[in-house]
Amino acid sequence: MARVKIIGEQPLHGSVNISGAKNSALPILAAMALLEGESTIDNVPELTDITTMVRMLRSINILAEQNGHKIRVLNKGHIKHLIPYELVTKMRASFFIAGPILARVGMVRIPMPGGCAIGSRPVDIHLKGFQDLGAAVKLEHGFIELRCPQLKGNYVNFAFPSVGATENIMMAATLAEGATIITNAACEPEIVDLAALLNKAGAGIAGAGTSTITIQGVRSLHGVKHAIIPDRIEAGTMLLAGLITHGKVTVHNVNPQDISALLAALADTGARLNIKNNSVEAHSGASWSGANLITQPHPGFPTDMQAQMMTYLALAQGTSTIRETIFENRFMHTGELQRMGADIRTEERVAIIKGVKKLSGAEVKATDLRAGAALWLAGLAAQGETVIYDAEHIERGYEKLTAKLSALGANIKRVA
Ligand code: UD1
Repeated sequence: MARVKIIGEQPLHGSVNISGAKNSALPILAAMALLEGESTIDNVPELTDITTMVRMLRSINILAEQNGHKIRVLNKGHIKHLIPYELVTKMRASFFIAGPILARVGMVRIPMPGGCAIGSRPVDIHLKGFQDLGAAVKLEHGFIELRCPQLKGNYVNFAFPSVGATENIMMAATLAEGATIITNAACEPEIVDLAALLNKAGAGIAGAGTSTITIQGVRSLHGVKHAIIPDRIEAGTMLLAGLITHGKVTVHNVNPQDISALLAALADTGARLNIKNNSVEAHSGASWSGANLITQPHPGFPTDMQAQMMTYLALAQGTSTIRETIFENRFMHTGELQRMGADIRTEERVAIIKGVKKLSGAEVKATDLRAGAALWLAGLAAQGETVIYDAEHIERGYEKLTAKLSALGANIKRVA
């Protein structure tokens, strides 16, 4: 198990280039099962989740070669419909491959994704969508089997705007007969990126980024060149790293519009922001004020920034509240932050955070990716040494984290 050691209270200064978005790259790589021929995907972050998705593609007979931030893919057809158990249990996003394989092969047999650290995360919304497109769904021996020789376009209304379900059904519907209209679709920027890739490949998608997406089915899709959008969660976390250490960090290669809910929340706490076309600079005064936040589907405040924001608010003046509405169990970081001196109480899905003057370094454990990010932020701000155990979780979502933070002046190192 890897550990990250941080000596805190070093103000971070300087610029950081934001990597490509993990949550965009994962469904886009899954979409490679739909595209015939050769594709090149650029600006892909080098992360363990990406390696898992590349292995997934290889396991179904698609050639995929990763060279730095570029992944070259060759889909010559003859795709396998059986997904290995080991890959799906590693990463929930593996389930994104179900829609593309179903649409392309007419059937898919994929292990049930199972539970995860931030809640039960079922796939019922995905399955209902596949059924709406004509698929027969069978659950047995821990597998989900979907069958339909030719999907048919239909109305698909989601009970909740699930990001993954929107992506899975949108991908499957590209090769369906006729038109599909998804209502109450998720609007995240990563869905817009996926739709852009699919349209380049010949798909007929309109409305991605809004709650109604129309997909006119086509017979086949061809290979493309595409560059992944910047990672808005990495951008937000890096801005917080500057603010929480009383430094000044500029993030480059970002789309400020994609992080507007976060920027609005930071401005409310008194942070000073300088927003340009593709960069944002943030710095705080001697102190910042608390905030009351509710996580919501995009364009609301993202659940993936909730844990990191909690660390920042733990050092704010006054009391803050955060209501988590997307996941039922996403406060695992609160216990660890308390060990570092934070004053946080949770009542079901609400965290009440009383600002303290200082955090103190401690040994803590990352329970999931964003909980881990909350802890490295806490470590950067805290007095003394913080050791974060199970740091592999962090490496699922932050590319070259220690190198990027060191370049900004942090005293941080990874210990294997
Ligand atoms: C994606 C992101 C994740 C982010 C989340 C919400 C990727 C790889 N991951 O995850 O980082 O935190 O969006 O912004 O893009 N739900 C159901 N049934 C379903 C599907 C979802 O009940 O069939 C529930 C989930 O349990 C959860 C909520 O809906 O409570 C949101 O899930 P969803 O939007 O699907 O998240 P993911 O696509 O898994």
